[in-house]
Amino acid sequence: MDALKVLKERRSVRSFQNRAVPREVITDIVDCGRLAATARNLQPWEFVVVTEAGTREKLAEITDYGKFIAQAPVCIVVFCRETKYYLEDGSAATQNLLLAATACGLGSCWVAGDKKPYAEDICRLLNAPAGYRLVSLVAVGYPAEKPSPSKRLLSEVLHWEKW
Ligand SMILES: Cc1cc2nc3c(=O)[nH]c(=O)nc-3n(C[C@H](O)[C@H](O)[C@H](O)COP(=O)(O)O)c2cc1C
Repeated sequence: MDALKVLKERRSVRSFQNRAVPREVITDIVDCGRLAATARNLQPWEFVVVTEAGTREKLAEITDYGKFIAQAPVCIVVFCRETKYYLEDGSAATQNLLLAATACGLGSCWVAGDKKPYAEDICRLLNAPAGYRLVSLVAVGYPAEKPSPSKRLLSEVLHWEKW
């Protein structure tokens, strides 16, 4: 898919078909995640791909607004070493995952990690080493819905030269 079309068409998908995603497709999506922009090129990220149903159910249970992780065939969990810009770096990587998933015909949804009271529990569940922070969890799968949440108009948010 054309890059601008991917950017414009991506929407959060929280309902998935009961269909596995090929390993090479997931690998390609993570490859796009690791190529994100990153302060001082530190690339502090690590990606844990969870496909096992029992672990996904535990992740779903731990999160507050990520219950659909139990139904998504894949959850990519983004961790970052605690550098100055870990959250920006991890967020850029997360957005790359969402866009790559869209480009592959998959649906995805960003589930909050950083700042959530459950972040430490997820670090422990997935054996993240000390010094790493949970940034996000990304549910991925073939979409079973096509949401279109309202968006602010370009004319409302675009300012030329000065506000
Ligand atoms: C930092 C961040 C945290 C988010 N956390 C959640 C979450 O925990 N659960 C969820 O269902 N969606 C979550 N979302 C997705 C947003 O709800 C979604 O992006 C927003 O409603 C706009 O919809 P769209 O992605 O379809 O454009 C999160 C998005 C961001 C950027």
